[in-house]
Amino acid sequence: MTQRTLVLIKPDAVRRGLVGEVLSRFEAKGLAIVAMEHRTIDAALADAHYAEHVEKDFYPPLRDFVTSGPLVSLVLEGDEAVDVVRAINGATDGRKAAPGTIRGDLSLSNRENLVHGSDSPVSAQREIALWFPSL
Ligand code: CMP
Repeated sequence: MTQRTLVLIKPDAVRRGLVGEVLSRFEAKGLAIVAMEHRTIDAALADAHYAEHVEKDFYPPLRDFVTSGPLVSLVLEGDEAVDVVRAINGATDGRKAAPGTIRGDLSLSNRENLVHGSDSPVSAQREIALWFPSL
């Protein structure tokens, strides 16, 4: 079934010049970019996006990280896009993510893990409404 999912190319990827590398992996897979924006977000958007994590110990440094510089937010569309993007991204911790995935190939961190992908169709709907209210 065709789905849309929210992807963030996080500030570490932008700083490291990996936006093109990351985008090309999604495009090569056949996913369509239906919206894309380069922006620096404030703490309020970070808190809303990561609402399920705001009380966790790892959240304060995560908030500092995601607000530390520009990121690229995008909506991707394609068959089973939610799960396909999560497979391309790899496991959360770059040290454990499988080779061949974005995190497995390019990240050594649990926090600075280059990308975010919505974890379910329900999350995708919420996150797309938050980041791209006009869609
Ligand atoms: P993401 O897919 O954006 O979803 C939640 C984010 O929290 C995750 O990627 C990581 O960037 C971060 N994260 C998750 N678990 C940890 C952790 N144990 N320590 C630090 N950061 C984490």
